[in-house]
Amino acid sequence: MNNNSVISVEHLKKVYSSNGKRKSKSVEAVSGIDFSVNENEIFGLLGPNGAGKTTTMRILCTLISPSSGNVSILNYNLLEYQNEIRNNIGYVSQKGGLELRSTGKENLILQARLYGMSIRDSEKHADELIDMLDLKSFAYRKAKTYSGGQKRLFDLATGIIHKPKILFLDEPTTGLDPQSRSHVWNEVKKLNSNGTTIILTTHYLEEADALCHRVAIINLGKIVALDNPAQLKRDIIAGDIITLTFENKNAQQSALEILSGQLFTKEIQPVDTMLHLYVDEGDRTLPVVMSLLHKNNLYIQTASLSRPTLDDVFLKLTGRKLIESETIHKKDVQ
Ligand SMILES: Nc1ncnc2c1ncn2[C@@H]1O[C@H](COP(=O)(O)OP(=O)(O)OP(=O)(O)O)[C@@H](O)[C@H]1O
Ligand SMILES: [Mg+2]
Repeated sequence: MNNNSVISVEHLKKVYSSNGKRKSKSVEAVSGIDFSVNENEIFGLLGPNGAGKTTTMRILCTLISPSSGNVSILNYNLLEYQNEIRNNIGYVSQKGGLELRSTGKENLILQARLYGMSIRDSEKHADELIDMLDLKSFAYRKAKTYSGGQKRLFDLATGIIHKPKILFLDEPTTGLDPQSRSHVWNEVKKLNSNGTTIILTTHYLEEADALCHRVAIINLGKIVALDNPAQLKRDIIAGDIITLTFENKNAQQSALEILSGQLFTKEIQPVDTMLHLYVDEGDRTLPVVMSLLHKNNLYIQTASLSRPTLDDVFLKLTGRKLIESETIHKKDVQ
């Protein structure tokens, strides 16, 4: 652990084994990952469905045990000091945990009581949080009547009722509309600026970009890159990206041969009937590319020029788009 870090993870591995009647089949969900989280950081675990994000988070929250590796949180060893760790962290699960037959405020009080607060303090903390997160207009009706965004805000509130030093948020905004999402983002930023270290998982690239000081990109149980979003984009994808779509694979292959040999091409990557061309000066190079392909009778359906995004980083590292890899995974598990 460096001086500043509050979480240290070394060679963490998790293998789920199933011992049903059918042939036993194990799943390696986390394949030996290393990272540390600094005090007062917002740290993101970004990856597609099944990447191992929730598994990693549940291990750090002492909810499941690791198969191997070393983890310490606030200098407490994960396996030896579970109670000390639990007292200092808050966890908001992917599915949320509100008792739907109770009101939002009752949920907060219940949570506070579970953390050992007196009835008076629980009331006081619940009222403070309702004020702070602006929940008053729906705090006194049953949680089963809440919209997705209202539920998520109360989930967040139950995770911080005991003022944890570290807050774990598993997909805080999945399924929310843009307005509710930005409300949750603002609250997360506010909590962080008040001194809470936050670890969140997401498969929204714009969420990682907007919120996280550093992001670990996780794919198939492994961390494939870790840095701040701007640096990831700079290091992994130097320059601009020209994306060309062709009418079929043959045209794409011919264009690939022609463009591969050009001095301006730093790197070229075929995906479906598209080519992603990485160049230094996109605005100058795009017209040159168009005229070169035109001379060779290659018809371009669409051409676009973009600055790199985290999605491009993911594509570059894994050869797949983030959304596509989710679809592939969903097909695999059906
Ligand atoms: N209890 C379990 N038993 C067996 N396999 C499991 C169990 N929980 C998770 N897995 C498997 O471990 C892998 C990682 O799952 P995990 O829930 O950590 O992924 P995730 O990155 O959180 O995905 P998502 O974005 O869909 O929430 C997946 O292949 C999943 O099917
Ligand atoms: Mg998950």
